[in-house]
Amino acid sequence: MSNLSLVCENLKPLISDEEVNSLQSEVNLHHKSLLEGSGKGSEYLGWLGLPSGFSDSTKIISVADTIRKSCDVFIVVGIGGSYLGSRAGISYLNSSFSNQLDSYSKPEIYFAGQNISSDYHADLFDLIADRDICINVISKSGTTTEPAVAFRLLKEMMEKKYGSEGARDRIVVTTDSNKGGLKSLADELGYRTFLIPGDVGGRYSVLTPVGLFPMAVAGINIKELMEGAYLAERLYANSSLSQNDAYYYAVMRQLLNQKGKTTEILATFQPAFHYLADWWKQLVGESEGKDLKGIFPASVEFTSDLHSMGQWIQEGNRNVFETFLVLGSSRRQLKIPAFKNDADGLNYLAGETMDTINEKAWLGTASAHKDGGVPNMTLRIKDRSPYSLGQIFYFFERAVAMTAYLNAVNPFDQPGVEFYKKNMFKLLGKPGF
Ligand code: PA5
Repeated sequence: MSNLSLVCENLKPLISDEEVNSLQSEVNLHHKSLLEGSGKGSEYLGWLGLPSGFSDSTKIISVADTIRKSCDVFIVVGIGGSYLGSRAGISYLNSSFSNQLDSYSKPEIYFAGQNISSDYHADLFDLIADRDICINVISKSGTTTEPAVAFRLLKEMMEKKYGSEGARDRIVVTTDSNKGGLKSLADELGYRTFLIPGDVGGRYSVLTPVGLFPMAVAGINIKELMEGAYLAERLYANSSLSQNDAYYYAVMRQLLNQKGKTTEILATFQPAFHYLADWWKQLVGESEGKDLKGIFPASVEFTSDLHSMGQWIQEGNRNVFETFLVLGSSRRQLKIPAFKNDADGLNYLAGETMDTINEKAWLGTASAHKDGGVPNMTLRIKDRSPYSLGQIFYFFERAVAMTAYLNAVNPFDQPGVEFYKKNMFKLLGKPGF
């Protein structure tokens, strides 16, 4: 039974059933090339079968348990696909304040190497100075500048504090199975290492140790998460648009894009979904934005952003569509109390839950935006469980790969990312640039 349901009523009448059906044969072709490995980027299709092939849980859970016992602070060092998935999972599943709560507090979890800000890292080092730390440095290529810089600083700090051997026991490396500088360093210094399959690219790697190990350290049930992903692998294995919501979503996006709706706004109503939206933006941005094509992925957090971006979305440039991520039910229900003096006029809501109000905010927003010329659809998510999250990750991976193929672009490369690096290396005087 699926924990996700896609509701597309608010795309009518802009998108007709005939238009959707007209793309079925193209979808069949791309589905076949995904399965047969005959499409663009076919050397990176390992993510398709990660859930059904999952057998790594024992090592991941046992190293995670050791790390949990050895430190107060756990730092994930990585950028892009090497950190967004675990960050999304931890914030989706744990308390908004897990680093401050006793029930979660060992270890607190922070992220480094996702920027080159001196102040950010110096502030982090202040925070951890007197704490016991462990780190997981994650880089598939093993050569990415941002995490490499942060790792150098952390390694030096840890070796001063614990000695080389002590530091070694507190450093876990996740990198490509057989290439890259980080792999050789890990082999040379004897770091515990998780390997990323060669046929899984960065932004499709959340269901490998890249995402799973930090989530396990955060106390997340990764077996349940992979079971949810496995459900998705089976649910989205059929090319029929009437039976595959991931492909249906892909087709809707494609048709909207063709009608000039070139920006997709992923709108959430839960702060816990903030980094899930960041993960999604990277997945869409790097997979689809090339060859002068691609939907621009944006995100907002409602109702907060209804008080900042709401005006623009309601009445600004009509080149956008929205996808709402809506949570079926919160873990805990808070009821609105009655006030003797109804000064704020809220007594009509006394006894109602916050979920009820949030749900009406979604319904009201969806219909206002539709009336304002912003077609929208909703992905309803049953709950904030690992099972649902596993399904969500796989749903979007499958959908984005399909939209990219419908647009005739390679979903699995990111050649454009190299341009800033070349300039930066030249400016820094890197040999050979
Ligand atoms: O999706 C991708 O491949 C990229 O976003 C990478 O994840 C990101 O650039 C980090 O690369 P690496 O893991 O090699 O350090």
